[in-house]
Amino acid sequence: MSVSAPPEEVLDVLRRQDPQIADVLLGEARRQAETLQLIAAENFTSPAVLATLGSPLANKYAEGYPGARHHGGCEYADAAERIAVERATALFGADHANLQPHSGSSAVLAAYAALLRPGDTVLAMGLEHGGHLTHGSPANFSGRWFDFVPYGVDAETGLIDYEQVAALARHHRPTAIVCGSISYPRHPDYALFRAVADEVGAYLIADAAHPIGLVAGGAAPNPVPYADVVCATTHKVLRGPRGGMLLCRAELAERVDRAVFPFTQGGAQMHTIAAKAVALGEASTPAFTAYAHRVVEHARVLAAALAAEGFALTTGGTDTHLITADPAPLGVDGRTARARLSAAGLVLDTCALPHGDGRGIRLGTAAVTTQGMGAPEMAGIAALFTAALRDEPEETARVRAEVRQLTRSFPPYGR
Ligand SMILES: Cc1ncc(COP(=O)(O)O)c(C=O)c1O
Repeated sequence: MSVSAPPEEVLDVLRRQDPQIADVLLGEARRQAETLQLIAAENFTSPAVLATLGSPLANKYAEGYPGARHHGGCEYADAAERIAVERATALFGADHANLQPHSGSSAVLAAYAALLRPGDTVLAMGLEHGGHLTHGSPANFSGRWFDFVPYGVDAETGLIDYEQVAALARHHRPTAIVCGSISYPRHPDYALFRAVADEVGAYLIADAAHPIGLVAGGAAPNPVPYADVVCATTHKVLRGPRGGMLLCRAELAERVDRAVFPFTQGGAQMHTIAAKAVALGEASTPAFTAYAHRVVEHARVLAAALAAEGFALTTGGTDTHLITADPAPLGVDGRTARARLSAAGLVLDTCALPHGDGRGIRLGTAAVTTQGMGAPEMAGIAALFTAALRDEPEETARVRAEVRQLTRSFPPYGR
């Protein structure tokens, strides 16, 4: 059993007290260890991050900020949060960081709360083109409380249509422009977004939930010098615990902090903030820089191999950790593809296809790269995709066996 399972002594206690949940944890550990995790938003945290999440800091209430808490006994909670903030500001070159958002969505909510009033107009990528739920979905608070105007990608190239962004900004005069996506495989042009925002007097919010880990490793451009507020998650390429983060200029620090607590959240989750500090420490090392560059290289190799197998890649390739593709040339839609790939042990997502029919697939290389796989394995994975999509029981079983062999050779936690 790999380290992704709880430590033996924890399991022993759990097995005696709650065998049902012990089974669930072991089952999930086995699932992660025996199938390929290709969901672009996932990764394997280090054992140090996992240990911190399971530490007694999980017991601590700490409403407020270091030095100004509503609870007693916060000396270690304060120390953890100060370290996390220092590491984040140093790593991303930001004046200020807030590590309290419970998730990426909570970080976006707080950014809007800091800069906007209900009813304000916001320009953001349309959901069918790669925008997140928090970028104006009618099912989300964002679409209810703000007037979102969507921009999109060019039908031919799949690249952001910057002329449309500028034209919409001039016409609608939004209070804020959001750049960032759940599935765009290229880097946003932050300087261009900044110029448009300046021209119309809008704030620029960069939702860097996906690329922030690549930014940490110097493998993607840094939005911090351009955006008024940067929202991020800590659990994707960055390889930290599930959670959110905000980065901003000094002038906005107080507004951002108040927008998180007390406006949108209560007590900070100190075990998660300490785990974020551990991950940020790891992300500041040369080893992480090398990792981030490998993630991108592997995505490029995997994208080229999938294109050679017949998949139609959005934008023709990738500059990041993620790939979006239409499997239609192989005779299946995204949902069918996900089901068949999943049956063969290849776990990924579907995604919207800009200007396309139906759904495509979205995958990423952050987790498999953490496992130590390299370019040859990426090319091999693309061939497994095609075999699994044939939906022939013998082929599916063969792919499953090959996936199992691969994960035995590259176990998530090196055992
Ligand atoms: C661009 C973007 N924003 C926000 C989020 C929300 O993050 P969470 O799921 O942690 O709320 C995501 C999640 O994938 C995302 O990709």
